[in-house]
Amino acid sequence: MKVTLSVIKADIGSIGGHIAPSRKLLDTVRASVRERSQGLLLDSYISHTGDDIAIVMTHTRGVGNREIHQLAWDVFSEGTKVAKAQGLYGAGQDLLKDSFSGNVRGMGPAVAEMELDERPGEPFLFFAADKTDPGAYNLPLYRTFVDPMNTPGLILSPQMSQGYRFVVMDVAHTAADRVIELNAPEDLYDLAALLRDPERYVVESIWSRATGEQTVAVATSRLHNIAGKYTGKDDPVMLVRVQMNFPATGEVLAPYATGHYVGGGMRGSHQMPLMPVALNSGTSYFDGPPLVSCAALCMHEGKLTEPLDAFAHPFWNAVREKVTGKAVEMRSQGFFGAAMLPMTELEYTGITDKLRRLEDRFKVRAKP
Ligand code: F6R
Ligand code: MG
Ligand code: MG
Repeated sequence: MKVTLSVIKADIGSIGGHIAPSRKLLDTVRASVRERSQGLLLDSYISHTGDDIAIVMTHTRGVGNREIHQLAWDVFSEGTKVAKAQGLYGAGQDLLKDSFSGNVRGMGPAVAEMELDERPGEPFLFFAADKTDPGAYNLPLYRTFVDPMNTPGLILSPQMSQGYRFVVMDVAHTAADRVIELNAPEDLYDLAALLRDPERYVVESIWSRATGEQTVAVATSRLHNIAGKYTGKDDPVMLVRVQMNFPATGEVLAPYATGHYVGGGMRGSHQMPLMPVALNSGTSYFDGPPLVSCAALCMHEGKLTEPLDAFAHPFWNAVREKVTGKAVEMRSQGFFGAAMLPMTELEYTGITDKLRRLEDRFKVRAKP
């Protein structure tokens, strides 16, 4: 059976700053999805990661479907009313346009979707990250899909040994989607040259070269590119089909033990380590640290099992301790050097205004 997996997420308001949505807001979103799902959805799963609410949906209408996107838009609009009524902070902040125009892409909410031929057992992972941007997944995806040091399947499985095709997006190009396709392993160094710059080049999707099937879909929207100003970090979601011709769940999860530095954290303007957290976690230290959750699911004819919490296992406690140490260490140098993002990536304009004002006060000394 052909099934489409769609995840659409938005920050439509949270308690106590940018921490987490209220229970009432989540209940409203759940009820609203249930009400609208008749004849449209096979199943759905709603969760939050930090201040972002994600709606995972299964259906048969393909990717970019108007009715499915409209459903999510209407649900988030309804949620926004509750967020406003409760006085939540940033109510409706990711709904950047006044009315729906066919597809939520470019309107604020983030989208990751893929259509698939359901396997007899269909395991997949749903990742959601907060206080960071879509490039946060570059490093883990690189390790999982090209590096046999991380992924023994690349040398053990004849299908996986045929490698993967990466579609990489230049997110700085806002006029239209600008993408490049690269094949691992032969294009490895070209791929590395792009992915090393995660604020600009972002993995959008990954495909098995053995079967042509899609295994990864990442939300690549850049909110500040859409709005032209600071509106919060993009807080990307990602779907990864696992096992058989795809990497095993453990091969996909393993790179998150690094706690790698990503763009984000306080005011979306810092370099902070990515912390794997339990489902439905909020944020805390320094409006972060950037966090990533992972729900592991299976489905049959589009019906979802209950989600298992992939980062709730005790193993990840030690990783979280390490990430805490890395976060505090980086914060000890305040705004200096590597602690803050480069000028082009800062989410607030105050600093560029300051520098512009100081320009006139610079004097070029006459040569002695
Ligand atoms: C980062 C984030 C927070 C805010 C910060 C200031 O993505 O959401 O770090 O940037 O709390 O928020 P505002 O400018 O809304 O007062
Ligand atoms: Mg927010
Ligand atoms: Mg967020």
